[in-house]
Amino acid sequence: MRAPLRDLPLVFAGVSLDAGGTKILRDIDLVIRPGAPTLVVGPNGAGKSTLLRLAMGLLAPTCGTVTWGGTSDPAPTRRAMLFQRPVMLRRSAAGNLDYALKHAGVARAARPQRVHDLLERVGLRAMADRPARRLSGGEQQRLALARALARDPQLLLLDEPTANLDPAATRAVEEIVLAAAASGVKVLMASHDLGQVRRLAGEVCFLVAGRLREQAPAEAFFQNPQSRLAQAFLRGDLVMED
Ligand SMILES: Nc1ncnc2c1ncn2[C@@H]1O[C@H](COP(=O)(O)OP(=O)(O)OP(=O)(O)O)[C@@H](O)[C@H]1O
Ligand SMILES: [Mg+2]
Repeated sequence: MRAPLRDLPLVFAGVSLDAGGTKILRDIDLVIRPGAPTLVVGPNGAGKSTLLRLAMGLLAPTCGTVTWGGTSDPAPTRRAMLFQRPVMLRRSAAGNLDYALKHAGVARAARPQRVHDLLERVGLRAMADRPARRLSGGEQQRLALARALARDPQLLLLDEPTANLDPAATRAVEEIVLAAAASGVKVLMASHDLGQVRRLAGEVCFLVAGRLREQAPAEAFFQNPQSRLAQAFLRGDLVMED
């Protein structure tokens, strides 16, 4: 039996993070609930990756608390994280997924079918036996998504997963993300590609210089941004703190 659902809601309460003498995140209050994808947007250095690392439990806040389904135990239960550049094991695409399933506690007998299903889900069935490290960047990112989905996540954290991909590969990844969201996976994803945010987001969190400036439904964020900073960001202007 799988562990009961307990990674949501993800709650940041008064979270600050200092590192190297810098305040990287400041006083973040944020609740992430089940539903359509939440996109974390903001300029370079805003703190998006740091926020995702806290959400995964890879970093601990300096002040405040991060909780998952009411618990502050950061041991991942049903969450998975994807980074900008995936790191694959020196085995085939299928071998990488088999390894992930093994570590997710899936019995050996059940794994071949699960590997097949995951490869199908990300459109890589024909590449099952290819060495994963020889796949193209876009294919590796799709394989990384399959590997994350192997954990049957309730919460999927994606840090600019399409930043190095061409438009077609980007769309392929976005379709997998939307399909995962439609099947009930909560996606929390950093992006500074506004076109992508429009395509994926149900909700937007807008971060500037470590502060959460807006959390709003995507439509409201794009049509009626509340802050001067968000208005400037949407115009493509340089966004500076007040
Ligand atoms: N361990 C650290 N020590 C000192 N400074 C750090 C550390 N980690 C991150 N920073 C700084 O914190 C700020 C936020 O970094 P972060 O990577 O979270 O931003 P980001 O919004 O993901 O940026 P990008 O869009 O470029 O990916 C940056 O100025 C970064 O240099
Ligand atoms: Mg980043």
